[in-house]
Amino acid sequence: MRQSFQSTERGLEAGFPLSLYHKAKRLFWDPAELDFRQDQAAFRALPEEAQGLILRLASLFLGGEEAVTLDLLPLVRTVAKEGRLEEEMYLTTFLLEEAKHVEFFARFLEEVAGQKGGLGHHAGPHYRRIFGELLPEALERLEVDPSPRAQVEAAVTYNVVVEGILAETGYQGFFRLAERLQAMDLAMPGTLRGIAHVKADESRHIAYGLYLIARHLGEDPGLWSVLEGRLNLLLPEAFGVVGEVFAPYPQGAPLGLSPEEFLAYASTQFQHRFRVLERARSLGPQALQGL
Ligand SMILES: [Fe+2]
Ligand SMILES: [Fe+2]
Repeated sequence: MRQSFQSTERGLEAGFPLSLYHKAKRLFWDPAELDFRQDQAAFRALPEEAQGLILRLASLFLGGEEAVTLDLLPLVRTVAKEGRLEEEMYLTTFLLEEAKHVEFFARFLEEVAGQKGGLGHHAGPHYRRIFGELLPEALERLEVDPSPRAQVEAAVTYNVVVEGILAETGYQGFFRLAERLQAMDLAMPGTLRGIAHVKADESRHIAYGLYLIARHLGEDPGLWSVLEGRLNLLLPEAFGVVGEVFAPYPQGAPLGLSPEEFLAYASTQFQHRFRVLERARSLGPQALQGL
């Protein structure tokens, strides 16, 4: 039975989660409004191998966005059950944004690349292990075990590794591709605009995940070993995905992209997040200030 209401007892708490919520509303965008006409013409003018790489990247994104859309709900429910009103208010925007990312990549594949369905073969073993097993298992577990330990494992998997390493590195790849295409007079303005929106959304998702982990570390610094254990399991899988993306091109990927560049970017992104988490060991959620 609910005895009282936080919003009427104390009012809304102006903190990090509520600031993410307000930012999400301010930066709202609609994937259906992107104009892909120029992008479609540019894609058609590309050599077949370059088209193949773009299709591959976009289909891995689409599957990944579907997975994070379907898997987020147990975390929202866990936060709601703990009565964290402002965090849940933010998470309502988070889930809608993942749905919009699915829409964006599905639209891109269908309207720019002319491909609807038949893309499942792009997923390799590391990708399948992360999106088919490790991610859904970590989030579904919260339904039966919402302990701080399980929450840290879920957030490390979902926000630090899947969003913070895989998604961010993938967007970087898309940007690099777009730059090279622009230099060839094959600009894809609708795609670039969409990716910029997705990237901005993801940076809030990652920030929320870091906040959640920092909150738990602030209450129990001993959870650091849980975080490290999870990272040790996940990092080889995540870096393995980058290897899988480039596996079909042993002689060099189209448009001058290279796995070394991606791996370097992925590890820089990871180190940046890891430093925030290290600060959170002593500072708790305060470590997020300025992010
Ligand atoms: Fe997303
Ligand atoms: Fe996300």
